[in-house]
Amino acid sequence: MTTWRIRDFHPSDLDGILHLWSAMTESGIEPVYSLSEVLASCQADFAVVAVHGEDIVGAAVGRAAHEQGWIVFLATLPEWRGRGIGTGLLAALEHRMAPLGLAKLSALMPDTETRIDAFLNRGFKDVKNLRFFERQIPVQRAELGPLAQLGGRVLPRNLWDNVAGMQSEKQLLERRLVLPLAEAELADEFGVVPPRAVVLFGPPGTGKTTFAKAIASRLEWPFVEVFPSRLAADSEGLAGALRRTFLEIAELEHAVVFLDEVEEIASRRAGDPPSPTQGVTNELLKIIPAFREQPGRLLVCATNFIRALDPAFLRHGRFDYVIPIGLPDAEARRAMWNRFIPAAVLAEVDVDVLVERTEGFSPADIEFAARSASQRALEKAVYSDGGQSSTNGRRGPTTEDYLEAVSETKTTVSEEVAAAFLEDIEELARV
Ligand SMILES: Nc1ncnc2c1ncn2[C@@H]1O[C@H](COP(=O)(O)OP(=O)(O)O)[C@@H](O)[C@H]1O
Ligand SMILES: [Mg+2]
Repeated sequence: MTTWRIRDFHPSDLDGILHLWSAMTESGIEPVYSLSEVLASCQADFAVVAVHGEDIVGAAVGRAAHEQGWIVFLATLPEWRGRGIGTGLLAALEHRMAPLGLAKLSALMPDTETRIDAFLNRGFKDVKNLRFFERQIPVQRAELGPLAQLGGRVLPRNLWDNVAGMQSEKQLLERRLVLPLAEAELADEFGVVPPRAVVLFGPPGTGKTTFAKAIASRLEWPFVEVFPSRLAADSEGLAGALRRTFLEIAELEHAVVFLDEVEEIASRRAGDPPSPTQGVTNELLKIIPAFREQPGRLLVCATNFIRALDPAFLRHGRFDYVIPIGLPDAEARRAMWNRFIPAAVLAEVDVDVLVERTEGFSPADIEFAARSASQRALEKAVYSDGGQSSTNGRRGPTTEDYLEAVSETKTTVSEEVAAAFLEDIEELARV
């Protein structure tokens, strides 16, 4: 080991850079920029290497962002450290970047990087009290095309917190679905096989769609809803269009796939000749096992009529869980009323009595009653004074407005449906 010299990077030096990268990570230093970023910068931005004969013993890579330049990689093989190679590489890199007229040259180095001499020698200042933040963007560039094609999107981050009440359902979904999917490595350590497909069932308006979206939001996975009614018009027919749609979904890195009113395409096989949806049901029965083989995605099927489903559809092996989403309990109704009543009048409204009077209401029913009370109160306030446009000092709906709206709201879920739901839980739920 005698002399080293510095020269520009050549495309044939990639192996040498890889070697430096592994030497660095093996010595316990986790570089800030990813390997693919560094390799891209070697080719497109600025890179210099230190060589001994043919061997690469060090490298520095930089890139410019407007007025600021960034050192994205600086490494020397361990056995070559302490010979000023780092300082030499930084000098050469700065020289190459000089024509850009940069105002500042910065470097982010891991805490474990102890060889700061190269930077200090070159006049860099060790800036204290800085923190490094980074966030993984949920959808990668290559997925934007397929995602748009599927009409999928990344939902706002707060949907999970916005689900009012429903503590026991929320806890169940959080533990059984979100935890193993979000913490895949931890789940694996414990031998937990992450869920791939679930059914949510319950009377209309209880929040099945809301929960499916909230799960996607919680995981930060794109939400893709599959609409059989739209696919039916496809020239390939519904079965073919479903197959194609799921092939497109397979191109995504992550997705929560939502199939609502699944009983419409997976109903009980009956009659001879078989019903026209039979081919579609069969297709779906084939699609699910294939879907299950791909990690990083979750199929959520929802139905208001779980008993109408083909028993083969619910058989073990297709769905990890069959989860009831029922009418909200008192606590959930309270949370919903607290959400729907305008903050300015919340303190004056008797929420207890509303919670009590809305037993048997679905979230959708409560939302409807709250909205109509607001509308009614607004109209009363504005028009009660012979059409004068003033609010007569009223600031919002009163308990009476709410009670009136509640008594006029027809609940979606009849007692019979509620009783049938309890039977369904008994017979078909799997949590
Ligand atoms: N836990 C909840 N908190 C607040 N609003 C809810 C909740 N669950 C449902 N909603 C509202 O009730 C309505 C019906 O919910 P939805 O999820 O569409 O029911 P489903 O899919 O079971 O028929 C939606 O407007 C939704 O925003
Ligand atoms: Mg729905």
